[in-house]
Amino acid sequence: MHYDLLIRNALIIDGSNTPAYPADVAVHEGHIQRIGDLGDASASDEIDARGRVLAPGFIDVHTHDDTVVIRKPEMLPKISQGVTTVIVGNCGISASPVSLAGDPPDPMNLLGSAAAFVYPRFSDYRAAVDAARPAVNVAALVGHTALRSNHMNDLYRTALPAEITAMREQLRDSLEAGALGLSTGLAYASAFSAETDEVLQLAQELTAFGALYTTHLRSEFEPVLEAMDEAFRIGRHARSPVVISHLKCAGAGNWGRSPQLLKALEQAAENHPVACDCYPYAASSSTLDLKQVTDAHRITITWSTPHPEHSGRDLIDIATEWSLSLLDTARKLQPAGAVYYGMDEQDVQRILAHPLSMIGSDGLPEDPFPHPRLWGAFPRVLGHFSRDLGLFPLHTAVHKMTGLTAARFALHQRGEIREGYWADLVLFDPQRVRDVADFKNPQQAAEGIDGVWVNGVLSYAEGQAQGERQGRFLPRGGGMSEGFDRFS
Ligand code: ZN
Ligand code: CU
Repeated sequence: MHYDLLIRNALIIDGSNTPAYPADVAVHEGHIQRIGDLGDASASDEIDARGRVLAPGFIDVHTHDDTVVIRKPEMLPKISQGVTTVIVGNCGISASPVSLAGDPPDPMNLLGSAAAFVYPRFSDYRAAVDAARPAVNVAALVGHTALRSNHMNDLYRTALPAEITAMREQLRDSLEAGALGLSTGLAYASAFSAETDEVLQLAQELTAFGALYTTHLRSEFEPVLEAMDEAFRIGRHARSPVVISHLKCAGAGNWGRSPQLLKALEQAAENHPVACDCYPYAASSSTLDLKQVTDAHRITITWSTPHPEHSGRDLIDIATEWSLSLLDTARKLQPAGAVYYGMDEQDVQRILAHPLSMIGSDGLPEDPFPHPRLWGAFPRVLGHFSRDLGLFPLHTAVHKMTGLTAARFALHQRGEIREGYWADLVLFDPQRVRDVADFKNPQQAAEGIDGVWVNGVLSYAEGQAQGERQGRFLPRGGGMSEGFDRFS
């Protein structure tokens, strides 16, 4: 048999959370055709992978890449980490279905300005992704805040029955067109006034599709356990798997509580499919939120519409220069973006290491001075946390970014190295892989990522994009997400 591609002598970490084993892998017409000792096979392209790990391409379970996959389809921040699929539409904000009356409300502005929102129906977005053919595959959630902004003239109240009906119709239309599920961002002012019942009613649309509910909790500060309860209630009501987004203990007063949070997650998991995602840093980033302005920890301004010259500077330094309080300084900078150094490293590590957590970057591609997670999240887990700190074995690190995610999100034939699966692959050097991006120089490609294949085609090598972009839109994978049927 003659194949398109043979990767020989690789150490295979197949994504299923089992240890590495040596083998050759043959790829043909976009798929993994054979795995084993393929000494007598030949291929148009042959690679000796000795000493390096071949893993499934990483799935970035938490992104805000909605519009960038179309506007900058090279997707260098992601493909350079070994990411081959991004899930967009998190935290209640999505590029579609959206019809804006004016400027996008906070935090939808994280996805771009008004001109970026040109997808009134989910099917428009799906077609635009396929037409742009980004370097990575794209799967999408529908944002609750996006639906609210379509149908409500005032986001600072709960929705009226007629508005809920209109949102449900749009959500159903999107699920029929291949959306993965519904996301909320209940902590943000633009969704905080939504009562639980509003979300419960929307979530009812998920049931028939076996679609997911993901949530940026109503609070990540002191009332975080109550917020988790609310999320689980919504998921159980809709018989819908729940993913808690970027689980964390935010704010100095909340540090050290990760064992409680993880216990609550485990308890919920006993009778319902629940999981969480997290990014491997003790600092968060989003729009500048006056409620989070504090002198208890450092805050860096990443962008500011009225004062772009202060991008990359600490809030306290700007405040000193202006002789204003932190709060007044923040007001003057808005609309703006920030990095908050508001987590404890021990909490981050405990959540990262938990078997129910998946890796997501939560990177913000529009930010001129982005949190380094945009370029570094995945290699940081492989290098810093797995190899250097020994927080978990390398095959577990890979599982958290591949097989676990594909199962939870029902991404069909992705996330594992198995015969018949799509050939989304990453070849990396386990000794050298590391994140280079940091808080001072956040836009730098990782080291040690030697080759990335998307749908069987080499797409990144030698620090550069290669060949023609191969990503496609991935509709919800037909049927229930794995893990739910076992409870029903
Ligand atoms: Zn979020
Ligand atoms: Cu997010």
